[in-house]
Amino acid sequence: MYIDTVDKTIKAEPVILGIETSCDETAASVIQGRTILSDEIASSANIQAIYGGVVPEIASRAHTDVIDLVVKSALKKAGVTLEQIDAVAVTYGAGLLGALLVGLSYAKSFAYALNVPLIGVNHIRGHLAAAYLVEPSLKPPFVTLLASGGHTAILYAESEEKFQILGATLDDAAGEAFDKVARILSLPYPGGPNIENLAKQGKNTVPMPKMLHGDGGYNFSYSGLKTSVINYCHTKEMKGEEYSKADVAHSFQCAALDVLVEKTLKAVKEKNVTTVTVGGGVAANGYLREKLQTACEKEGLHLVLPPKRYCTDNAAMIASEGLIQYKLGNFSDLSLNAKASIPLKAEL
Ligand SMILES: Nc1ncnc2c1ncn2[C@@H]1O[C@H](COP(=O)(O)OP(=O)(O)OP(=O)(O)O)[C@@H](O)[C@H]1O
Ligand SMILES: [Mg+2]
Repeated sequence: MYIDTVDKTIKAEPVILGIETSCDETAASVIQGRTILSDEIASSANIQAIYGGVVPEIASRAHTDVIDLVVKSALKKAGVTLEQIDAVAVTYGAGLLGALLVGLSYAKSFAYALNVPLIGVNHIRGHLAAAYLVEPSLKPPFVTLLASGGHTAILYAESEEKFQILGATLDDAAGEAFDKVARILSLPYPGGPNIENLAKQGKNTVPMPKMLHGDGGYNFSYSGLKTSVINYCHTKEMKGEEYSKADVAHSFQCAALDVLVEKTLKAVKEKNVTTVTVGGGVAANGYLREKLQTACEKEGLHLVLPPKRYCTDNAAMIASEGLIQYKLGNFSDLSLNAKASIPLKAEL
């Protein structure tokens, strides 16, 4: 059997090929240790935009069309030969099943053909591991803010492999709220960056609900915020009153993101750590990045803020988490299946 014959020698600085196809990005990356050698991304977002969101079948077909090209390009840019690859790390969940299966099947064939370990990577752990590529000397303990399309949580990293969930969203995720509010404001997909752009022309003048500040512990709730935006816009429209969409976007953005910064800093104090890391697509938001930077500077904290490209989906983060699992000898068999959803608790 493949898993019995595969070379399980653990190298100090292995060359890992990472593959990510959980949503609409087909991504491949080669890392050596914590150094990124290449990082390729092909996105079907421009096609998905026509439909106002990701159509799973279109995403799967787009992955099938480009995965071989993307992986070959990543290998070429990294300047590595097939013989130099020590392991293949691939996202097995959570995500769109058909999309995941494209990357997973490709990675299995690749690992089998090279007789190197296959490492099934949890997408969310990948977002969290992006920080190690930005700062290779990073060591736990630290507090992490996870804010993505499907997750919002404050975590305490005890070690590279073990996280404690201090709090999480009780309903929608922050990124999901950006996407839903973008639809209400008739902004095209993807919602997050378009809200951010529109918000730059607006002011914080539209009343937004209280966001579980002090009394919510480390938990979040975004569904009330979304409803509040719907109610405000519909009321104005029904009364035939003019309103500024830019002000709505700006006010929503402040309400959605200020609470993330506040609770991250609260966790840092409680856990008595000096380092903060951030992961997930919402961390690409300029307003959030600036707020975090200012708050951390003021408190004398060390902030590891991945460049925007490493906040949204990419394969370097998958390879980075692959490295953590590689060092633990956590290799997968070819029977590894794709998973559409994995509860956050089971992921960490
Ligand atoms: N500049 C931005 N401002 C706010 N939100 C943003 C920005 N850029 C991206 N996002 C949000 O980030 C999300 C996409 O990134 P991400 O990879 O974290 O999500 P996902 O892969 O769909 O979900 P998950 O990683 O939880 O499975 C979307 O919800 C998008 O609106
Ligand atoms: Mg993601």
